[in-house]
Amino acid sequence: MKFAQIMLKNSSKLNIPKQVDRFSKYSPSPLSMKQFIDFGSANACEKTSFMFLRQELPVRLANIMKEIDFLPDKLLSTPSLKLLQSWYAQSLMELVDFLEKDPDDKKILTKFTEALINVRNRHNNVVPTMAQGVLEYKEAIGVDPITYQNQSRTPIKCSFCALISALIFDGSTNPAHPKHIGSIDPSCDVVEVVKDAYESAKLLCDQYYLTSPEVEIKQVNFKGPNEPIHIVYVPSHLYHMLFELFKNAMRATVETHETSLHLPPIKLRVSLGREDVTIKMSDRGGGVPLRKIERLFSYMYSTAPSPVSEDTRNAPLAGFGYGLPISRLYAKYFQGDLQLYSMEGYGTSAVIYLKALSTESIERLPVFNKSALRHYQTSTEADDWCIPSSEPKKLGKYDFSV
Ligand SMILES: Nc1ncnc2c1ncn2[C@@H]1O[C@H](COP(=O)(O)OP(=O)(O)OP(=O)(O)O)[C@@H](O)[C@H]1O
Ligand SMILES: [Mg+2]
Repeated sequence: MKFAQIMLKNSSKLNIPKQVDRFSKYSPSPLSMKQFIDFGSANACEKTSFMFLRQELPVRLANIMKEIDFLPDKLLSTPSLKLLQSWYAQSLMELVDFLEKDPDDKKILTKFTEALINVRNRHNNVVPTMAQGVLEYKEAIGVDPITYQNQSRTPIKCSFCALISALIFDGSTNPAHPKHIGSIDPSCDVVEVVKDAYESAKLLCDQYYLTSPEVEIKQVNFKGPNEPIHIVYVPSHLYHMLFELFKNAMRATVETHETSLHLPPIKLRVSLGREDVTIKMSDRGGGVPLRKIERLFSYMYSTAPSPVSEDTRNAPLAGFGYGLPISRLYAKYFQGDLQLYSMEGYGTSAVIYLKALSTESIERLPVFNKSALRHYQTSTEADDWCIPSSEPKKLGKYDFSV
């Protein structure tokens, strides 16, 4: 590498913490689905979009980079986290380059669109890379109860940036889905996505267990009993959540009914109300005790054997332990939620809540602020509720020796 190039590379590296400090002082501006659609519509102004994104994207990146810095050192030193941090730094610097550029210059607008595509492609793998880093950390040191709690917060926050980059509208139309705006489908048919996700999960389940449960789908639409349910949504997010839930429901069903000839079907209900779209998936896979439900949403928890990383031909049905936490993240991103209700000994219902109206589907974005910092510093603080002790209590006298 030439001397001038080396100097340039090093000086931009030195500049990164300065830029992170500068942009993390601002709060990101969340957009609603409706605003995304307006942004991407044919009469949207490219110059306005440029002016908004060249400021907004560095703010979002810097807020997340600040929070990543507070992860435990051992997690930060895993190869996956190092790679992830380098992506954020590179994207930030590439976007900051446009701050002083002339918004009336057409060539600059074209270059900016190219930069956005690069950033989006680079961040496509943030979610699995973050989860991979947590697994590397787990393998290296085992579970540390203090940092365990913090990890369940940050990967969720970091992943939002992957989501925003997936939503950048770069002006191109997708030939397979010409009506989509960026990754958003203005008329997403929920039951169609359910069927797609079921078929993919079934394929994996058949491969692994040589059998799979059927699905029964029912829908209720308050606008009319036979009307299909359409919402403004990102179909790939909905597909991801449903695929993960189907894999879990199928595994639980097959393993619980190993010895019986007939597998009970997975029952799925979709309902559209005035405010919510609710999708409930119920299995008869034996359920999970209430005590364990929250744990299932932590990044490290899986009851399946760890997948073999060299096996690139077969995707595993379970074992990474991030199906549920990442699915809940997708649901929450547009003000929805994902909850599990279980009857131990019988089965589990997983419920996805989405906003029915595009004006209410507004992004939930991370802000690096004092409360986030406090979260990392006070993880050993006492809880609001008493924790029952398993030790026998000395009820006779107060013990003043401590
Ligand atoms: N429907 C269900 N019935 C019973 N147990 C479930 C169900 N869904 C999830 N679980 C339990 O929760 C754990 C965590 O689920 P999660 O989807 O997050 O990870 P995983 O399925 O183990 O691995 P992967 O990340 O590959 O999906 C599972 O290992 C399983 O023990
Ligand atoms: Mg799973």
